[in-house]
Amino acid sequence: MRFEPEISDSENRGMDVAKAFLEPVKKKFPWITYADLWTLGGAVAVEALGGPKIEWKPGRIDYENDMDVPPQGRLPYGHDKPQELREKFYRMGFNDQEIVALSGAHVLGRCHTERSGYDGKWVDEPTVFSNDFFDDLTTSQWFWQKSPAGKYQFYDDEQDQMMLPSDMALLQDDEFKYWAHTYAKDQKLFFDHFAKAYSKLLELGIHRDSNGIARVNKFARNNL
Ligand code: HEM
Repeated sequence: MRFEPEISDSENRGMDVAKAFLEPVKKKFPWITYADLWTLGGAVAVEALGGPKIEWKPGRIDYENDMDVPPQGRLPYGHDKPQELREKFYRMGFNDQEIVALSGAHVLGRCHTERSGYDGKWVDEPTVFSNDFFDDLTTSQWFWQKSPAGKYQFYDDEQDQMMLPSDMALLQDDEFKYWAHTYAKDQKLFFDHFAKAYSKLLELGIHRDSNGIARVNKFARNNL
């Protein structure tokens, strides 16, 4: 996310806030790569907000130019349906259970009208990592409505919480639905599956030797 077109991909809007937040750390410890710093930031944030410990290993390199930047269109959209989520996540090696587990990250934070055009928080306590996203998804009543920026999304009856169409897609497919309901009932299992899937996400594109040391594989770099 340091070069065009990735840096200004509309699906990455708001990332500049998180990147700016970590910049003083980079200034203080210039030897750490951005790829290690940003992935470590994500892992630490989940744990600090009450979530599971995320296995994280160092060794990522930063690209020196835009030659290996992934093309646009690979990131999921908020309006994606089950099949589109599958196409995007399967390409990276994730299965249905992992897609649902990763989506549980939407317990944190919120949507911003000025960034994605979607509006609101998913859960009542958006700074606590829990399985509330699945609990609310599967038990609340959701109403299809336009956000102030004109995007269609789902609101609860008090318009206090929201779901993206891509979140609701987790109830529109039998396999996705099974995992959404399972995680709603079993926070421990969700934490375990989320930790594994997120750690796998943070390792995408990294090739380690038998000692766990990251090595560059030029042929696989563009597969992110
Ligand atoms: C399943 C496909 C996904 C879609 C379609 C999607 C879409 C979105 C959208 C539209 C926003 C709102 C951005 C804004 O307006 O500020 C958002 C926010 C967020 N997403 Fe996702 N996302 C997906 C998967 C993930 C995954 C895998 C993670 C992490 C493991 C994640 C973590 C977050 C977080 C923490 C926020 C809140 C950001 C904030 O508070 O500023 N999302 N996502």
